[in-house]
Amino acid sequence: MADIILGIESSCDDTSAAIIRDGVLLSNVLASQDVHKAYGGVIPELASRAHQLNIVPVVSEAIVRSGVRAEDITAIAFTRGPGLLGSLLVGTSFAKGLALALGKPLVEVNHLQGHILANFIKQPDKEHRAPEFPYLCLLVSGGNSQIVKVNSPLEYEILGQTIDDAVGEAFDKCSKMMGLGYPGGPVVDSLAKQGDPLRFKFAKPHVPGLDYSFSGIKTSLLYFVRDQMALDPDFMEKNKADICASFQKALIDILMDKLIKAAKQTGIRQITIGGGVSANSGLRSRIQEEGLRRGWTTFLPEFKFTTDNAAMIAIAGWFHYLNGERTPLSVAPVSRLAEL
Ligand code: KG4
Repeated sequence: MADIILGIESSCDDTSAAIIRDGVLLSNVLASQDVHKAYGGVIPELASRAHQLNIVPVVSEAIVRSGVRAEDITAIAFTRGPGLLGSLLVGTSFAKGLALALGKPLVEVNHLQGHILANFIKQPDKEHRAPEFPYLCLLVSGGNSQIVKVNSPLEYEILGQTIDDAVGEAFDKCSKMMGLGYPGGPVVDSLAKQGDPLRFKFAKPHVPGLDYSFSGIKTSLLYFVRDQMALDPDFMEKNKADICASFQKALIDILMDKLIKAAKQTGIRQITIGGGVSANSGLRSRIQEEGLRRGWTTFLPEFKFTTDNAAMIAIAGWFHYLNGERTPLSVAPVSRLAEL
């Protein structure tokens, strides 16, 4: 009998549901929330309300598009955390209710594991490549920046992580400061393509080991632009593309330095990336270039699997299910990683 897993994701501002059958993706439905755009960031209460509106149609659509019947689902995987508590509560409560109604087991998933395992999602009629264990995953998003050694689908070691801000926050800050809107990453990414990455220099943080820091470079960007604007009020407007290109390059340099160090220290040459920032075109090409130079085998998730999506929750949930894990109906969501 095939394992059919329904995945539900609601950790931040995307409501998503997906169905996989024995690891093959049958459907992946996503409703994004435009309501936050006006505020320049995600407003938790508005996110929870939008999830409440979206969750039923999104899950129904995922089931219909997959062509399976609800009663044939083997297990329901859902994001338990980390994320916004109110948002997680909607997905978790819905998953619990559906599990009870259908008499199916529940499997909780750590959202970050979803990003780490995104390369294992198979798609019908598409060639599939997945890393061999152990591999290194550069996990970069709005809330995390980590280098993870993945020993098996369910065994991880965090080799390094940010000691302050996540790299996604630095992208978002850069965009906000220049009035380019939220989320910042995609806008900075596209402007950077038209700019000169060598025009401006930003100081690199000196953090020991494999840890990261992004708060200093965020602040140095603010001071740099403020000082330049004092001399020329049009500085930012005139140099938008070069600022984005130079800042993005500085962030990528920081990420890559530690990743290269981690690969050298561990001798691991299977390299993956995951999380929202892994959609960044500059980072993707750098990983590939370094990979060619250093003999790495690199795995980049498709764009649709880089940001929050339920396909990755379903695949991670499947691994937990195969491992015999089941989550009781008394489960509550948790907002912080340390609580998981
Ligand atoms: O994993 P994710 O969707 O969500 C959470 O962290 O919860 O990551 C969102 C982050 C945001 O900071 C966003 O600006 C960033 O990913 N991001 C990007 C790009 N697309 C999204 N950063 C750089 N370049 C991109 N193309």
